[in-house]
Amino acid sequence: MSKAIFAVLPLGMYDVLRPALTAAGLPADDLLEPGRSFFELSDDDGPIGFVGVEGTGADRLLRSLVVLPGRKRQGHGGLLVAHAEAVARGGGVERLHLLTTTVADFFRARGYQPAERASAPAAIAETAQFSSLCPGSAAYLLKDLT
Ligand SMILES: CC(C)(COP(=O)(O)OP(=O)(O)OC[C@H]1O[C@@H](n2cnc3c(N)ncnc32)[C@H](O)[C@@H]1OP(=O)(O)O)[C@@H](O)C(=O)NCCC(=O)NCCS
Repeated sequence: MSKAIFAVLPLGMYDVLRPALTAAGLPADDLLEPGRSFFELSDDDGPIGFVGVEGTGADRLLRSLVVLPGRKRQGHGGLLVAHAEAVARGGGVERLHLLTTTVADFFRARGYQPAERASAPAAIAETAQFSSLCPGSAAYLLKDLT
């Protein structure tokens, strides 16, 4: 197996990301909106998975985490989350927030704490995912990066 590497996805180069998100039931119609950064993990066999960070300031949204079929359950999801956290921390982010309808346990195992949606800071509550793209039943979790 070749070494997996991370790269920033150039703006608009979402030909693999977009259908992967759609297939996983995740929002994909706002990728070109400002204030989003997406990262790709790949190796010699091609793309493995993606993760995004949305927003500005101390509180940002972890989003668009997806590992491609056939590449799951090999630690890639955890690597992608750790990469997003490292990039965020390097950019001065203090807390990462997320919504998930399916993999709350995956994030809990990686240090994310469940919280009440009503307690989310305005910068997070005002994101499209919070206000419209994700159903109200999605679990809200956050992690302190400081
Ligand atoms: C969630 C996801 C990114 C995990 O990727 P992965 O590469 O398989 O994850 P890893 O191999 O790093 O970690 C696997 C761990 O997550 C758990 N896990 C993976 N998929 C899971 C699922 N659907 N439900 C619950 N737990 C899951 C496994 O039990 C395993 O636990 P362990 O570390 O205790 O053994 C991947 O399943 C995926 O792309 N899912 C669809 C998109 C999605 O739901 N994204 C999250 C949106 S917020």
